[in-house]
Amino acid sequence: MATRVRKSYKFAFRSALFIAIILTIALWAFVWFSKMAEIQLLSISLFFIVVFLTSFILIQIRLEKYIYRRIKQIYDDVSLLESSSFTSGSVTTDMKTLTEEIEKFAKDKKIEIDTLKIREEYRKDFLGNISHELKTPLFTVQGYILTLLDGALEDKSVRKKYLQRAQKGVDRLIYIIKDLDLITKLEVGDLNLERSNFDIIELIQNVFDLLEIKAGKKKISLTFDMNYDTPIYVFGDRDKIQQVVSNLIVNSIKYGHRSGTTEVSIENLIRNKVIIRITDNGEGMSEEHVPRIFERFYRVDKSGSRKEGGSGLGLSIVKHIIEAHGEKIYVESVLDVGSEFSFTLEKADPNIELGTVSEKNN
Ligand SMILES: Nc1ncnc2c1ncn2[C@@H]1O[C@H](COP(=O)(O)OP(=O)(O)OP(=O)(O)O)[C@@H](O)[C@H]1O
Ligand SMILES: [Mg+2]
Repeated sequence: MATRVRKSYKFAFRSALFIAIILTIALWAFVWFSKMAEIQLLSISLFFIVVFLTSFILIQIRLEKYIYRRIKQIYDDVSLLESSSFTSGSVTTDMKTLTEEIEKFAKDKKIEIDTLKIREEYRKDFLGNISHELKTPLFTVQGYILTLLDGALEDKSVRKKYLQRAQKGVDRLIYIIKDLDLITKLEVGDLNLERSNFDIIELIQNVFDLLEIKAGKKKISLTFDMNYDTPIYVFGDRDKIQQVVSNLIVNSIKYGHRSGTTEVSIENLIRNKVIIRITDNGEGMSEEHVPRIFERFYRVDKSGSRKEGGSGLGLSIVKHIIEAHGEKIYVESVLDVGSEFSFTLEKADPNIELGTVSEKNN
């Protein structure tokens, strides 16, 4: 290790000065009391200078050797920890700089440790959530299979029903795994966005048609806020945006009151952006939940007796997709009044032919 030594002479200078003053006074007093000789100012001054210089040099050399050895040891130990904040190659015996460096080092380490702790908590939470989500459908499937093996297979009246229920459990497992897979891809930025120009009105109408039966079961009407007679072209990944719209509308149905309404509006925002709003008059949520609903696995109703069995991944996927497009998503919600989710999209550039642009999102 190439070592550059930064010295501090202050300490040695002051110590030497003290020693020289004290010894000179002592000598002067000794000479004066013992009346050995006339006090000569010149020899006293000479004595002072010699003592000062000798002390200074000795203290400086000794200190440097002593402190340097100790501090070098510290530097070496710290570089064993592969500290990036400790500048290898420069050893200082200057206490002020050293203290500053050590403080900075400790602060950096603390930040590093805190980040690791948060990550560790997150990892534990995440694993706990996954196993919890997978457990329920897996036990359902296992239960039906065991019942069938235990004899229900012979009973024609129930075997189909049990197999269908087991199938539902498997579907649920596949659904969760697919969501997790998508989230992982979105998080590592490994998702290909296949951007193209498409009509957002048509896409929303498609989603309405697909979810009509689901909404009908709760007598929820899916509508636009007005008649959109002309297409509104936007630029994005059509399938992913369809998933966003679908997730948001499914939520508005799941958390909507019976006979409620889900309304979608599309407005011009700024020159090249539109904002799509999905508003419901459902159960809404209280203020404290709003900042957290985009977290993975976050659900307002955490009880196992949820009537709407989601895994809490839907909105997290929605947010990732919107952010992968470089756009923004907003939410406003009032408990027992309703919620409004809105997101921005880029308007299609009329100068670009309707084609597909493939790009890596990261
Ligand atoms: N429109 C809404 N009205 C009221 N609450 C909502 C609405 N949308 C989402 N939430 C709340 O936010 C939580 C998270 O929603 P998210 O879509 O991420 O999960 P989920 O619907 O429970 O499950 P998943 O979508 O993965 O099947 C929901 O559990 C619900 O409590
Ligand atoms: Mg959902």
